[in-house]
Amino acid sequence: MTGISLKNIAVFASGNGSNFRAIHQAVTEGDIPGRIGLLVSDNPDCRAVTYARENRIKAEIINFRHNPGTASPGQVLTHILAALPADLVVLAGFMKMIPDSVVQAYKNRILNIHPALLPRFGGRGFYGRRVHEAVIASGAKLSGPTVHFVDEIYDHGPILAQIAVPVLAEDTAESLAKRVLKVEHRLYPEAVKAFCEERIFWKNNIPFIRN
Ligand code: GRF
Repeated sequence: MTGISLKNIAVFASGNGSNFRAIHQAVTEGDIPGRIGLLVSDNPDCRAVTYARENRIKAEIINFRHNPGTASPGQVLTHILAALPADLVVLAGFMKMIPDSVVQAYKNRILNIHPALLPRFGGRGFYGRRVHEAVIASGAKLSGPTVHFVDEIYDHGPILAQIAVPVLAEDTAESLAKRVLKVEHRLYPEAVKAFCEERIFWKNNIPFIRN
């Protein structure tokens, strides 16, 4: 790709970090024109933080419980993202709500991945195995990951990309989660790559990826 500058990416993760690893791998292999300059987590003991340290990616642990007299999580995040400076924020299994001030400052520059086909099966309380249990209980025959831009409401912002994954008669929440996660590792790097290559365009306030 010519004429496109490397994008600075900040990844936010609270848990295992397998999506973080998939994106980092794509960056390392030169498939994504970007660099991951920062991992933000609310959980110092998670696998994502260990992976960041092993790979010499700066890890910032943020306390999301705001203690009076100290900077708010929004202020702390604004400061560290500006220091990068971040072009893109990638939420990869991040369990805390992004403060409104950060969402507004990074409008259309924060991506999230959800393990079901939004706008169904999303919102507060829909995380982890609960998402897949709800999909199975609904009788839906298709599930699959959604990548969307983040707005002020949980799992609500403009949908950028989805891949359908069949729901099978013998599925448990665990087996469905496993199959969806595997597809996430393909979809999320592709979406981040499209952003970094400036291939996202908007039509009627809906984002699309140009091939
Ligand atoms: C994924 O299923 C993602 O869709 C959801 O949280 C999970 C994170 O998994 N938002 P990992 O930490 O990337 O392995």
